[in-house]
Order: sequence, then C-alpha cells, then structure tokens
Amino acid sequence: MHSTLECLTDWMSRQRWYAGKGRIPELAEVARDEWPCADPDARIVVLLVRDMANNPPSLYHVPLVLRTTIPRGSGRTFIGRDENDDYLFDAAHDETYTHELLARLGVQRADESSRVHTGEQSNTSIIFDAGGDAPLVVKLFRLVHAGENPDVVLQTALTSVGNRSVPRMLGSLEATWVDPLGSHTHSDEPSTGHIAFAQEFVPGVRDGWPLALEAAAADESWADDAERLGRVTAEVHTALAECLPSREASLGDIVGFVAGWYQRLAIATSDVPELRELRPAIEAVYDAAREAAWPPLQRIHGDFHLGQVLRRQSGEWLLVDFEGEPLRPLAERARVDSPLRDIAGMLRSFDYVVGSLRNTGAPGGAGAMLDDVARASWARAARGAFLEGYASASGLDLAAHQSLLDAFELDKAVYEAMYEARNRPSWLPIPLAAVAALAAPERAAHR
Ligand SMILES: Nc1ncnc2c1ncn2[C@@H]1O[C@H](COP(=O)(O)OP(=O)(O)O)[C@@H](O)[C@H]1O
Ligand SMILES: [Mg+2]
Repeated sequence: MHSTLECLTDWMSRQRWYAGKGRIPELAEVARDEWPCADPDARIVVLLVRDMANNPPSLYHVPLVLRTTIPRGSGRTFIGRDENDDYLFDAAHDETYTHELLARLGVQRADESSRVHTGEQSNTSIIFDAGGDAPLVVKLFRLVHAGENPDVVLQTALTSVGNRSVPRMLGSLEATWVDPLGSHTHSDEPSTGHIAFAQEFVPGVRDGWPLALEAAAADESWADDAERLGRVTAEVHTALAECLPSREASLGDIVGFVAGWYQRLAIATSDVPELRELRPAIEAVYDAAREAAWPPLQRIHGDFHLGQVLRRQSGEWLLVDFEGEPLRPLAERARVDSPLRDIAGMLRSFDYVVGSLRNTGAPGGAGAMLDDVARASWARAARGAFLEGYASASGLDLAAHQSLLDAFELDKAVYEAMYEARNRPSWLPIPLAAVAALAAPERAAHR
C-alpha cells in the first residue's frame, strides 16, 4: 500500500498528458480540495501536484475519486490503493465527479452521461452528448499556471462578441493554491489559475490534420479548404484585435522578438550540427526583419497548426485550443504577439503534411505513390491559397511583409529542428529542408 502520491507516480508517467515523457515524476502535493458529493461511497479529491522532475517544476491538475469498493466495470480507470485502504480512480471517467464538475461550471443538463475524448491530447476533454440537450465538452487543463489561461480568455472574448469561428464558451473554473517553491510564484501569496472550462461540443467535425493528410495523399487540391482557413484565421485575428488589447509594435518589442530568435538559434545550432553552416543566412533573414515594417501586435492563437482547426460538415472551419504552447510561461503567452506567428505556424503545418507523407506514407500507403515534385506542389498550392484567403479577409498586404513572415517561419522551423533532433531524428529532414529554403540567398533576392 502506498501514499496517494506514490500511487500517482507510475500512473501519471503513463498518461498522454504527462509532459515529462520518459522521466519518472517526482511529486509533491500543493493543494488538496475535497468536493462534497452525494455518493456516500465516494470522495472527490482535486489535487494540484508539483512535478520536481521537470525544470522548472510543473503543476498538474489531478482530480481523483476515492472509493472503499471497486465498482463493476471501473478497472480501466483504477489508479491504485492508498495507505488508508481507499481505491483511487481517475475522476474524468467517474459520474460522481463529472456531476459536481458541471455544477461548479454552472451548467445544467438533463442527461449527464459522458465519455472521455480518446484522441491524442495534451489535456483531458470530457464530452457530454447523450440526451436531448445541446452537446458540450469540458476541457480539464492538466498543466496549471497562476493567472488566466488564454484558452479561456480568448474563446470567452470571441464568444462574447458573437464570433462563430470558435465553439461557444459556457463557463470556466479556477483553483487557488499556495506554492512557495513553485516556479512562477516564489511566495506565500495564494495563486489562482484556470483548471477547466465548458464549451459547446460541435458534433461531426473533423480535425484539419487528417483531412489535409488524406487530400495530399490522394493528390487532391486543398486550395479551397486552405483559402477558407486563411479567411477564418484573418477574421478571428481581426475580432481579437477589436475585443482585446492591440498596439503598434515598438522598437523595444521588435528588438525583443529578434533577440528571442537569436537566442533560439544559438541553442539550436549547438544541438543540431546541420544548422551551423546555415546560421549566417538565417541571421541575415532575422536582421532584415528588424528593419521591416511590422503590423500591429495583438492577442493571437499562439500554437496554430492543422491539429487546432476543425472542419464542420458544412465545410466551415472552427478554431480551438487557444492555450498557446503549454510549456511556455503563462506570462509570455498572455501578452500581445504578432499575428504573423500564427500564419507562419499554419504554413509550417502544410509542409509537415507532405513531409510526414514522405516519411511514413498515408494510411493504406497511398502517399508513397506521390513523388517529391507532386508533394512540393501540393504544399505550395495550400500555402498560396491560405495566404490569399488571409490577405483578402484581413486587408493585410502579406507580400509587403514577406521578409517578416519568413523570419517567423524560420524561427518556427529552427525550433522544430531542435525538437526533432531530440525526439524523432528521422523527421529532422523536414524542418532542415524548410530552413535551407527560407534562408536561401535566391529567396532573399525576391524579398
Ligand atoms: N468544441 C469542440 N467540439 C468538437 N470537438 C472538439 C471541441 N474541442 C475540442 N475538440 C476535439 O478535441 C481535440 C483536442 O482539443 P484541444 O482543445 O486541441 O485539446 P488539447 O489542448 O489537449 O490539444 C480537438 O482536436 C478536437 O478533435
Ligand atoms: Mg490541441
């Protein structure tokens, strides 16, 4: 028998949302909130646990249900048995917890039966779509930060101005904790941060990534989809600039961006020897961006790629997951940023579609039929259509901002090179080819 944290250690390391892949969690309890519930055999315990195996330590949200017996059929969600003889269960699968969760989110439903989203996810989503009520999804944030989560702030702001390109937000939930050793607080003052939100669940949608992959594998043009995606991206950016802070980029802002790119490049070139000979050409692109005219800064999606967009059956696109890159400090993600970062993210995603086809082929092996020329032309067409859609809906002259957009795309590809070198070396050629193309002197001549 073990303490609650000992039970969690092994289980957490096996969860898709555990960010410290390959490491053994070193857990410390930061907060334990017990939620009263109607089930006499159950206790709901909402834990915030710090993982010291990560540097800086990360804070995880782990809701549990403790029971004195093991209900029939609950084996799959069983975590362990603690020193008090309680059986621990993953609360996301337990109706006793989900009932209280909905109440705390201020949502009422006649039929509260639910299921946990099974796709690749860095958080945990619980879907309520049985019965006659409008379906909804609750997203439990797994990594918790002090401060407001941009996923909640941005989607709530867009919902409140009537934007229909994000699912409608219905409510959110915060937790409060004191963590003197925490990475971002370093004080005895209580911190507050979002742990969950509820939003409309849109049935029948498909993720952009498999859609694009299938189209590319079949060598079907994706220009229409990409053009509409570009338009929606621009519309969402425009709405965000209107309802949340936005301002001209100051010299200080620009210097800050360029310094960030240089810093990332320095780390990447020490990790990825193949980048070394490209370094002067990359720096030339960054230097050109410093001299360029910058469009205004504003709140942006922050982690924009084909896995963050959903296509309705009608063909319309929806944007989700405005959390930004979850491992970046929240204070950085809560600032205004350049809309070009999102555009660059999506451009890189098109390149990854054809790159991954080349690497692994499509399901059924279809992608293997395409040659490099066909793949490159698919990606070029998708890029072009996306940029055209964006430019026409935003009024932003993207051609005039080419050197700046190239710099954002390069920075993203440099980051990818570092990531792939560490995690998936056989994928490294995808970002390396992009870096070489973006930094090529011929391209500079056209800028
Ligand atoms: N409102 C929604 N309606 C329908 N499906 C959704 C909705 N929100 C998320 N999803 C599905 O869940 C997946 C993961 O959601 P996301 O917010 O990106 O979570 P994560 O932060 O874990 O990546 C999406 O790619 C999509 O397939
Ligand atoms: Mg996501």
